[in-house]
Amino acid sequence: MTNIYQFYINGEWRDSSSNETVSITSPYLRKEIGKVQAISRDEVNEAIQAAKVSQKSWERLTVRERGEYLYKWTDELLAMKEEIAQIIMEEVGKGYNDAVKEVVRTVDLIRYTIEDAVHTHGESMTGENFVGGSKSKIAIVNRVPLGVVLAISPFNYPVNLAAAKIAPALITGNAVIFKPATQGAISGVKMIEALHKAGLPKGVLHLVTGRGSVIGDYLVQHSGIDMISFTGGTGTGMHIAEISNLIPLVMELGGKDPALVREDADLVFTAEQIVAGAYSYSAQRCTAIKRVLVNEKVADQLVSLLKTGVESLSVGSPEDNNTIVPLIDDRSADYVQELIDDALEKGATLVVGNKRESNLIYPTLLDHVTPDMRIAWEEPFGPVLPIIRVTSDEEAVTLSNESEFGLQASIFTKDIDKAFALTAQIEAGSVQINSRTERGPDHFPFIGIKHSGMGAQGIRKSLESMTREKVTVLNINN
Ligand code: NAP
Ligand code: G3P
Repeated sequence: MTNIYQFYINGEWRDSSSNETVSITSPYLRKEIGKVQAISRDEVNEAIQAAKVSQKSWERLTVRERGEYLYKWTDELLAMKEEIAQIIMEEVGKGYNDAVKEVVRTVDLIRYTIEDAVHTHGESMTGENFVGGSKSKIAIVNRVPLGVVLAISPFNYPVNLAAAKIAPALITGNAVIFKPATQGAISGVKMIEALHKAGLPKGVLHLVTGRGSVIGDYLVQHSGIDMISFTGGTGTGMHIAEISNLIPLVMELGGKDPALVREDADLVFTAEQIVAGAYSYSAQRCTAIKRVLVNEKVADQLVSLLKTGVESLSVGSPEDNNTIVPLIDDRSADYVQELIDDALEKGATLVVGNKRESNLIYPTLLDHVTPDMRIAWEEPFGPVLPIIRVTSDEEAVTLSNESEFGLQASIFTKDIDKAFALTAQIEAGSVQINSRTERGPDHFPFIGIKHSGMGAQGIRKSLESMTREKVTVLNINN
């Protein structure tokens, strides 16, 4: 008998009046592991209306009072760590150890968020600084919550990337409507069970489940939503941006992070970094290295080192903590295979891989990839890495910047001056010098530009994006 999970509204767990559910199938068990509610528009509306009401009293608490609830949340998450990790593994096919790390990383993120918020202060200024101004005008500038935040998260970090939105929203006095990825919704239920156990006042957070294609537009366009924090694919993000009302949006979208390898790079170190950065969790990470732009002078050596590294990657079930695991669904695996086939048809060299078992794609390395191949530009979100050989730094920068994406980039070189010079030219939110691309540590700003996003995440940036400044001007008339 499969578990049917309820949605969370006004401090209660409920079945939907729609009497419809969405079946959740494990990508590696290939069997149903549960059902979540496909809630109705009326229930979405009820949640948002309740959030608007509860947000006012929630905002009146002090930041420390709100922080106490979130600290309790972290305690409950740790108490449920193994249970939640098991669910994450079964639901999105992430290695068990990585799933445990995701829960612990989430606890650390929430705690840092509380501490950062508690030590955030406003500012004051007097009129005297401006021409003709006087000391009798004093401006007091504070940050206030936006109201009701719609937090929409992706499948690949179903707990961490959800909490990265929920925690800053709540600590700053907002109410939250949380829409998890459907493939990740059970993980979302579990993390909210922990928040419920922490005693969060009812109405402050609501968990709405159901397919984004069914309730997504209604959520996004609802007049009760004051801000949207979205993480997911570029196509979805662009759609949301097109239909949403005039409200603040923060979007973290797709990526095609390049690794630029200069001729002077430490190739053994570089190869280790690239393999780790390109293939972990079957490359189902927005910040995975998704193309290598290597100077032709050292390309043969690098490819040989990469081949050895890729061939040593563990492949199989997430229950055995394999690096390469079945992709989230068959459609995703079809897409990755399509990109591999296109590249090979157009003359790419298969170094290793191009083997598939259902939705398990074996780690694949393609050499001599050229700009006419789709894999040079499209985001596979799967374990295939294209090697593009370049003749100069300038060519590497040009190819980096011709991408529609601009999330992160890596530069591997021993020349730090060159590294900074190239960083200045690369169109990306972040550039890693001599490291694989990655989001953490989570207090760093996390930024996507172009089709990789808008606005910024990272704890401080998220606190800022979920609040606005309010100015109180004191006029001393003496
Ligand atoms: P997705 O298919 O775009 O879904 C993301 C979220 O949007 C899910 O919760 C989805 O719900 C929801 N959604 C879908 N249509 C919607 C609509 N019309 N209105 C409102 N919400 C809607 O992305 P994914 O497959 O979960 O994640 C993979 C993609 O996300 C990749 O492109 C990856 O690069 C990107 N990503 C980016 C980052 C980053 O930080 N930059 C991090 C992780 C992932 P359903 O699941 O119910 O459809
Ligand atoms: O795709 C999720 C994105 O946030 C990557 O996180 O820590 O694996 O670089 P990380």
